Amino acid sequence: MIYDNRILLGKGEQQVFLNPRMANRHGLIAGATGTGKTITLEVMAEAFSDLGVPVFLADVKGDISGMCRAGQMNESLQKRLSKMGVTDFVFKAFPVRFWDVYGQAGHPVRTTISEMGPMLLSRLLGLTEVQEGVLNIVFRIADDKGLLLIDMKDLRSMLQYCAQHTKDFMTDYGTMTSQSLGAIQRALLALENEGGELFFGEPNLDIFDWMQCDPAGKGYVNILHCVKLFQHPLLYSTFILWLLSELFEQLPEAGDLEKPKMVFFFDEAHLLFNDAPKVLVQKVEQVVKLIRSKGVGVYFITQSPSDLPQTVLAQLSNRVQHALRAYTPAEQKAVRAAAQSFRPNPAFRTEDAITDLGVGEALVSCLDEEGKPQMVERTKIICPQSSMSAIDDNTRQTIIRQSNLYGKYDRTVDRQSAYEDLQQITQEEERARQAAQQPVPRQTTWQRPYTPPRTTYTQPRRTTTTRRTTANPLNSMANTIGREVGKSLVRGLMGLLKF
Ligand SMILES: Nc1ncnc2c1ncn2[C@@H]1O[C@H](COP(=O)(O)OP(=O)(O)OP(=O)(O)O)[C@@H](O)[C@H]1O
Ligand SMILES: [Mg+2]
Repeated sequence: MIYDNRILLGKGEQQVFLNPRMANRHGLIAGATGTGKTITLEVMAEAFSDLGVPVFLADVKGDISGMCRAGQMNESLQKRLSKMGVTDFVFKAFPVRFWDVYGQAGHPVRTTISEMGPMLLSRLLGLTEVQEGVLNIVFRIADDKGLLLIDMKDLRSMLQYCAQHTKDFMTDYGTMTSQSLGAIQRALLALENEGGELFFGEPNLDIFDWMQCDPAGKGYVNILHCVKLFQHPLLYSTFILWLLSELFEQLPEAGDLEKPKMVFFFDEAHLLFNDAPKVLVQKVEQVVKLIRSKGVGVYFITQSPSDLPQTVLAQLSNRVQHALRAYTPAEQKAVRAAAQSFRPNPAFRTEDAITDLGVGEALVSCLDEEGKPQMVERTKIICPQSSMSAIDDNTRQTIIRQSNLYGKYDRTVDRQSAYEDLQQITQEEERARQAAQQPVPRQTTWQRPYTPPRTTYTQPRRTTTTRRTTANPLNSMANTIGREVGKSLVRGLMGLLKF
């Protein structure tokens, strides 16, 4: 709920607020299972929506979907509200858009192989460092040749093509062993078997579709249905990382704003860092640090703060800590660490309070007007205005069909890209090879001997592009090639910041 342009989170000794001006300083919602993390997330998301700030949520259990309906009063909510002294509470629905990588429980979300980039793709495919190096070369070759890597079959044929031409590429790009290329191809196959191919293709997500408000000026709550996706934790976490990097790359610098441009909530955030290579963790840290100045607030939701790397944790300034258990020595250590991250309140011992909190109660500390952490407050979190229970499939499908984005992403478009271009190139190559094998006729006068075309394929590719451009100077395909290739070069130049 919004009071005085601030987000009311709940009440302790006094009312506890999150200041929208500080909302891009990121946050953490932690706590053991069933302690109220998801409800706290809903409370925050509702308030951002009311402020006209679009929100993205990953719905891992399917229990956030109720945000599209008004909640209902019951005895326990009545008690909670009256204890808080909130008198003007109203139940209401929020503008929601559903998304789903599998395209069943929401608008499909896709990206292209080239947008995901070799680093995240390597993580997704579980590649070794050497194999990742080879994948980088494959991307470079595709870039240089203007071959579009859109879906899995583009990458598959690009890998095949590279495997057939390792010698030709060695001088310019370095060694690609057939073992590494084979391993990447096998990993790709495994990902396809997991349903990963749905994730890659066009129309790919325009991130700005997630940054919209409804006609009444309320920020859309974009709910990514992750129930199925979550069964493949690596796919889920890579997808989330891609989103972060995409936002980072696409948004301009914004400086200090009265409220964020968008807020992201990542549930089960520990998955982002499970077995993540050091270099990837460093990139996440950098992106989290820098995305703040683009007006994006990132909120991680996880069971214990110790699930996240210290360097990331240090950047999460608005904190809501629900109850933690402290039975094992490791749990006790985690509780101590969580307690130490708060500015103490002389009224209670933080460490004792963490294990003593009830459901829907939390230790809260947000940044004040000057950006300093407020003293920790033991807070009863307010209840959401929307429904806390999941919706049925009919209601979900109705909302999907009523959305003004309905139809934009629903059908896959398979345009000409590396797969088709490489087929053509291979045919041209085969013709050239056959021509070279023809017996040379006896000559009475000297003739220049036949020279087979170069096998590095700069030439055929250029021919293809030229043909397209000549046939129609405004050919959108040719334009897109220019854009895509340019984009990947720019991304490459960004070095550090590029995933
Ligand atoms: N602020 C609140 N107001 C009213 N009820 C609440 C509140 N917080 C939690 N509850 C009650 O507690 C239940 C569990 O909360 P929630 O689903 O948010 O837990 P969680 O920490 O997300 O659990 P999990 O780790 O299993 O996802 C809710 O279904 C709701 O009934
Ligand atoms: Mg939850």
